[in-house]
Amino acid sequence: MPEKRIVLKNCQIIDPRDINTSLAHDGFKALDLALGMSPEDVIAEIKASGLRGRGGAGFPCGLKWELAREAPGDVKYLICNADEGDVGTFKDRYILQHDPFTLLEAMAIAAHAIGAKQAFIYLRLEYHYLLDELLDAINQVKAKGYLAHLEIEIREGAGAYVCGEESALMDSIEGKRGEARFKPPYPPSKGLWGKPTIINNVETLMNIPAIVLNGARWFNQIGTDKSKGTKVFSVSGDVDKPGVCEFVMGSRLKEIVVDWANARDIKMVQVGGTTGEIIPFSLIETPLTFETVLGSGAVTVFDNSRDILDIVSRTVEFLAEESCGKCNPCREGTEVMLEILERLADGDGQQEDIQTLEELSNVMALASLCGLGQAAAIPVMDTIKYYRNDYETRIQQSVLLRSLRGKRWQ
Ligand SMILES: Cc1cc2nc3c(=O)[nH]c(=O)nc-3n(C[C@H](O)[C@H](O)[C@H](O)COP(=O)(O)O)c2cc1C
Repeated sequence: MPEKRIVLKNCQIIDPRDINTSLAHDGFKALDLALGMSPEDVIAEIKASGLRGRGGAGFPCGLKWELAREAPGDVKYLICNADEGDVGTFKDRYILQHDPFTLLEAMAIAAHAIGAKQAFIYLRLEYHYLLDELLDAINQVKAKGYLAHLEIEIREGAGAYVCGEESALMDSIEGKRGEARFKPPYPPSKGLWGKPTIINNVETLMNIPAIVLNGARWFNQIGTDKSKGTKVFSVSGDVDKPGVCEFVMGSRLKEIVVDWANARDIKMVQVGGTTGEIIPFSLIETPLTFETVLGSGAVTVFDNSRDILDIVSRTVEFLAEESCGKCNPCREGTEVMLEILERLADGDGQQEDIQTLEELSNVMALASLCGLGQAAAIPVMDTIKYYRNDYETRIQQSVLLRSLRGKRWQ
């Protein structure tokens, strides 16, 4: 199936520095329509569309908005999550770079729906170079009179992966060190400065104007039963053509990595960033949906020259480094996991290592405070599942080597 562009419709079509080019491509028509509707009707439309969050968790967008709308209090906040700190994820950057106007239009619609007068874009620190262009885009939208009901501020991130997690992100905006909060309460009832808050990923928001313009039924007919619309993927690794593409939900992994990105000699693909699932080449026909595998849409290809233990220990090294340290299972668990994996990779494995990794992964999944610790062991467990032989061979070699060394010293 070829690409289908809803989210990226205007990317590389309009001039991201000139709002008039956006207006010439239906820009802000959806906002005009939405402002003529009641907030409840806008929410009903988004609910009926079946749109789910694209930041990784897949929570129904309209339902979340409804919770915030109905939460008591006059002060409500909207946050666009543009932190995008995970390895191999760069789709939101592409959107910010190529079509800031649709994002701002979407934020204006979302604010109208939930009743927010103040919104923030939480921009990844490493995307600082986009700041001036985004500020300029906000000023252009303001000058055209489209932000009469909303103030949009950009807050730069803290350079930490965990600050993309919604509760840590709010701590960061509040000026604190970004650490995951205990949940509940969830942000739609008690979020930024204790007020009802909606946090949506850049890509989630980008779907809103198209849904308002074309209707929920149109959107609802695209994709699969539980995964509606399209998904934007960041494709990287051992491919001829890395980049950003958009496919209908339910498209096969092969269509993206082989047909689109021209990967060859594939060993495995990690889908969903550092905590994403591992798909071996034998399962390359896997459909990409919320029910199967998706995450944030990072697709990282590893070819047959790659060493499993090297890949996994570098992944866990990143997660150990990025753990905020607030909860024990994640802070200690990622470190212990890394220590075992590095030992294994260095040829100093122990017979019980696989079992220890499995036990550790169960504890971390159950007891960690946020998705970082809960999902940190996924790549480890998946590679043990699909490439157990690689682990066992490394352990056997270590045991043999130690016994040979012991003999030499006798
Ligand atoms: C460690 C961690 C990092 C995350 N990073 C991001 C991120 O960079 N961008 C994002 O949109 N969501 C990220 N999320 C998910 C957010 O917590 C949240 O679910 C999302 O922003 C909600 O928006 P959505 O409903 O539109 O998907 C992260 C989650 C975790 C656990």
